Amino acid sequence: MRAFIAVPILMVMLTGRSCRPSNAESPFSYTIQKSVVAGNGAVVSAHPLASRVGVEILKQGGNAVDAAIAVQLALAVVYPGAGNIGGGGFMVAHLQDGRNIAIDYREAAPAAASRDMYLDSSGNPVMSLSQRGHLSAGVPGTVAGLFASLKYGSLPFENLIRPAIELAEKGFAITASEANGLNRLQEDFKRYNSSKTAFEKESGWNTNDTLLQPELAETLKRIRDNGQKGFYEGETARLIVEEMKKGNGIITRDDLMNYAAKERTPVVFDYKGYTLVSMPLPSSGGIIIEQCLKMIENKGIEQMGFHSADAVQLMVEAERRAYADRAEYMGDPDFYKAPVARLVEADYLEKRMADFVPGKAGSSESVKAGQFPKESEETTHISIADKWGNMVAVTTTLNDHYGSRTVVSGAGFVLNDEMDDFSVKPGVPNMYGAIGTEANAIVPGKRMLSSMTPTIILKENTPFLVVGTPGGTTIPTSVFQSIVNVIDFKLSPSDAVNKPKFHHQWLPDEVFVEEDFPAATLDSLRQMGYKITPRGKIGRTEMIKIKKEGQEYRLEAVADHRGDDAAEGY
Ligand code: DON
Repeated sequence: MRAFIAVPILMVMLTGRSCRPSNAESPFSYTIQKSVVAGNGAVVSAHPLASRVGVEILKQGGNAVDAAIAVQLALAVVYPGAGNIGGGGFMVAHLQDGRNIAIDYREAAPAAASRDMYLDSSGNPVMSLSQRGHLSAGVPGTVAGLFASLKYGSLPFENLIRPAIELAEKGFAITASEANGLNRLQEDFKRYNSSKTAFEKESGWNTNDTLLQPELAETLKRIRDNGQKGFYEGETARLIVEEMKKGNGIITRDDLMNYAAKERTPVVFDYKGYTLVSMPLPSSGGIIIEQCLKMIENKGIEQMGFHSADAVQLMVEAERRAYADRAEYMGDPDFYKAPVARLVEADYLEKRMADFVPGKAGSSESVKAGQFPKESEETTHISIADKWGNMVAVTTTLNDHYGSRTVVSGAGFVLNDEMDDFSVKPGVPNMYGAIGTEANAIVPGKRMLSSMTPTIILKENTPFLVVGTPGGTTIPTSVFQSIVNVIDFKLSPSDAVNKPKFHHQWLPDEVFVEEDFPAATLDSLRQMGYKITPRGKIGRTEMIKIKKEGQEYRLEAVADHRGDDAAEGY
């Protein structure tokens, strides 16, 4: 293994037209750029090396979809706690010819899964089974998603996967937060794997250590050479099934062969003259932001002031109502007939807000209060815009940090623990405190309900915004806030992303706030009757704001300051 690299990873903030030759840097010495203004293309992702790969693809003449494929593959290597080929995700895109697309490559329940598979003999949920190890994994969707996206790209797949293979084979320097994350999980890697993984290091990980992933490199080469079959059939499939046998997992060769990404009709709606395009079921994200934005649309929020108690209260009450609907009505549309059209009807949403009283806290029915989750950052979002007017938003996940903690032996990639996103028992909160009912019960082949909200916005049919974030159930509420921050409060993209955020999800009936949320606003909210619960960071939002100038675009890209997230452009 290559020894330490001497050059520290620097944190730099750059704005203004990007003329920095950042791409000349090596994977062993790189900087994290938090914002950039570019004219040709911009990429924001959770890791500077992945953002850089995206810009390289754009420079080669690839479009935003090509870049999104390459960035996802690079993230599977340089951000292995969330970037993945063993998980799933969603892509929402607006193409230069005017089409809006949504690709669903969410994981699916294996054929041998059953409704009560995570309950013990007394009917109590065993969360360790749905959240850790082999049995917590759904059938991975990411590789199918990449190939489903490929038809909208323009470069050969080989070009898109090459950077990821190199990073896995030759290694790269890890950041301080990656080193800390890996050190925290050493025991879990031992417990949930029968052979040593690339992520284990006896002496502990340090900033700038090299992470080498030779087995992952071989898996990526099989995908390069054999396409989707390089993952879902042949040697990789054999290794996945072998791994399953080691830990009571149930994913079979047939599950892998039968997996297919699905094109869905995106959620499209207007908000104050803007057109929003977001992810439909099996993500709740698009419906939740449509419900929330429509519930506040005619309430004059723009007059209330950013972070004012009135504005926060209004948004919290909209969130409460949307999450109550999520728990009751939302699930994979191929298995459960969700009343989608009804949920977003103007009359219905107006009625939902009929009992909203400004200045007085509403109250959630106490079905079963969820425990709010630990802080977590295990999903990852990518925002990309190119010079042709293509916009791509991708959110992809392993669910928890390093997913199930199980690495497929011989194939070098982490398996998701997405099964926990199903409702393992009605009313029992999952890892994110979300509860569900029949709509999201486990059925073989069904996809678990998600909160991921990759979103793009147009203004008069012209690209305006690309946005998304990780954060479990805080995803739709973070995207909701980011959009209101830009459209209603006219905040700069940097402030819209980085200013403290809040969250309400119906149950538990509490307003969660980041630690640095303005104290005066919190005092007012307490007086209105809200329970305020400070918590860790909310989301890692990646935003690109786009302005058409003549025939060209001005792309203002911002990476969240809460993580190693980085913006690149040219
Ligand atoms: O699909 C979902 O909603 C969750 N599995 C997302 C998990 C997540 O965002 C974790 N990171 N914060």
